[in-house]
Amino acid sequence: MKKLHFETLQVHAGYKPDQTNSCGIPIYPTTAYSFDSSEHGSDLFNLDFKEGVSPYIYTRLNNPTNSIFEQRMAALEGGVAAVATASGQAAEMIAILNIMKAGDNFVTSPYLYGGTYNLFFVSLKDLGIEARMAKDDSAEEMEKLIDGQTKALYTENIGNPKFNVPDFEKLAALSQKYEIPLIVDNTFGCGGYLCRPIEYGANIVVESATKWIGGHGNSMGGIIIDGGNFNWGNGKFPKYSEPSEGYHGLKFWDKFGNGAFAMRCVAENLRDLGPCISPFNSWNMLQGVETLSIRVDKMCQTTMEMAKWLDQHEKTFDVCYLGLENNEYHQLAKKYLHHGFGCVLTFRVKGGYEKTVKFVESLKLITHLTNIGDVRSIITHPSSTTHRQMSEEAQAAAGVYPDLLRFSIGLEHIDDIKDDLEQAFELI
Ligand SMILES: Cc1ncc(COP(=O)(O)O)c(C=O)c1O
Repeated sequence: MKKLHFETLQVHAGYKPDQTNSCGIPIYPTTAYSFDSSEHGSDLFNLDFKEGVSPYIYTRLNNPTNSIFEQRMAALEGGVAAVATASGQAAEMIAILNIMKAGDNFVTSPYLYGGTYNLFFVSLKDLGIEARMAKDDSAEEMEKLIDGQTKALYTENIGNPKFNVPDFEKLAALSQKYEIPLIVDNTFGCGGYLCRPIEYGANIVVESATKWIGGHGNSMGGIIIDGGNFNWGNGKFPKYSEPSEGYHGLKFWDKFGNGAFAMRCVAENLRDLGPCISPFNSWNMLQGVETLSIRVDKMCQTTMEMAKWLDQHEKTFDVCYLGLENNEYHQLAKKYLHHGFGCVLTFRVKGGYEKTVKFVESLKLITHLTNIGDVRSIITHPSSTTHRQMSEEAQAAAGVYPDLLRFSIGLEHIDDIKDDLEQAFELI
């Protein structure tokens, strides 16, 4: 069969109607699943899945509605398998803990979402896993921090909120040189519609489904996509090549080959740590995914026009949007992104912190909160919210200033968005 397009996969992948012929995807609100026999139960606890036999054990590990969401996302991102989690943060945590233990380190781009920064430099540090922040997102700077205990490279694609696009070819070459995986947070890559990092050599994709994938700002969720393109048996990853203490001696690489990463996420990490997604949230995500490309097309179009409008505006400066030709990442964006330049921009308000706050508080239509990817336009003041826990120097390194606003564009009519901004500008 010919390879299906994104638009087709987003409404079909992962779902075949069951015996009821239900066209809509069913929600399975169940905790557990009965075993056909003792042998069936013990097979599942050995991770021996058989064709035509139910693979479901307990919803902390797997669930039929969650499976459809996972298979759909694997298809959209071009991976071999996916694992859904309770949030984007949980996806990042599970992916890292699926590779590393105390004493290991990984090298990360400095352009990170504030919550990720905290996870990496506070919580993981407490567990003995060291995140090493490179000076920028280039392969040259990242290579300087690699040593014998480095177990991964990490970057966001369209970093939040600097909007950097990493040079995937160079980062993939670096990860191959040191035989360590490249992990990409593709939240801003909109579920693979704007960019599929796996096609450019990434090995693991993590993303917050809470944003464009769900798209309606009503459910939390995360997703991990296994590219199936990394050799976990290369000797650097004992969690895959050595007998598992938590799985009666099973060797994940030997048993599951290129599906080992996703399987281990479920079998060891979801089982032990527990951040599974609710089937109700998977279902909400699936409703959103069905219109993902259409929403993102429209949002990119409006964002491009708003970037030009704000760039000309007398009360703003430093408009940052990948679609503007003067943006430092414009060429990389043209190389690696498809269908548009993203649905978020930032701008700075002339007059400093006080005027910025007054401007935000004067908006009537555009909502002031910390989220992105909703059908409603959202303004966020990162320095007082998402990036507040970072020092001023770390904020500046991440591109966050006291007069900077992040603007996630929704599906409202563009004239209404402009009118709301204009009336708030007039008040400062
Ligand atoms: C780039 C990025 N990654 C991860 C997350 C965390 O996702 P969640 O809020 O679903 O935990 C966010 C949240 O804004 C984000 O922007």
